[in-house]
Amino acid sequence: MLKVSLAAIGLVGFATFAMAHGDVTPQPVNTDALPDVGDEWLTENPYRSAGGEVWSTALEIGSSGYSQNCARCHGLGVVSGGIAPDLRYLEAEEEGDEWFVERFQSGYTQNGITKMPAFGELLGQKAAWAIRTYIEARPDDGALDEYDTRLKEIRDQLAAWQDGDIKALLAELTDISSKIETGSGSPIADSVALQAANLLTGETPDFTGAAEALTIGLSATH
Ligand code: HEC
Repeated sequence: MLKVSLAAIGLVGFATFAMAHGDVTPQPVNTDALPDVGDEWLTENPYRSAGGEVWSTALEIGSSGYSQNCARCHGLGVVSGGIAPDLRYLEAEEEGDEWFVERFQSGYTQNGITKMPAFGELLGQKAAWAIRTYIEARPDDGALDEYDTRLKEIRDQLAAWQDGDIKALLAELTDISSKIETGSGSPIADSVALQAANLLTGETPDFTGAAEALTIGLSATH
């Protein structure tokens, strides 16, 4: 936990410095792993309804792209600290997407001062939609509260897991993750319950990893 909060403080310090000096150079985002979407800029997020592997890849690339390019102004984990608008509530449908992509491409300048740099040319639209996918999948404030106690119990069970059938626990985590709401109205929330469920899926369930994900995620919400 200490590491996490120190990193957060570091980022905030950097943000103030970088902005005071106007140094907000966009950082390239590697989007090779994502399917191409053509040269024309789309008006709706193509990865939203892609589901499965494409959606998860977009989320992962978007998470890193967001952290490097947007977090310093729009907040870590898309929770705004007040410097720039909170992007979690931009509706996950065409109107919200059009507005998102317009700002992403052109940035925002007021009285000759760049308040937000333009990212379109440098990062391209695959990066734009990957970042959009990450933003719109953020769980809403308090969306986990109701499940907090149960998720902590599951965390403790996983941490002490020897062996046995994980199916019931996995089903419960999947069910919880499907009930967690986003601020954008996007049907899938990238919550700690989903992350833990993903770690437990497949041939070799990662009990320790899932328990750790829950520990970090649950303490971060408080
Ligand atoms: C240097 C600070 C800064 C950075 C970096 C930055 N933004 Fe912004 N952004 C702003 C400000 C300030 C506004 C408010 C502009 C306005 O009044 O419309 C804004 C507005 C937006 C809006 C419109 C939000 C709304 O509710 O109207 C979107 C979408 C957006 N930014 C996305 C991004 C994305 C995506 C990134 C990273 C790729 C990013 N921004 C990086 C400062 C920043």
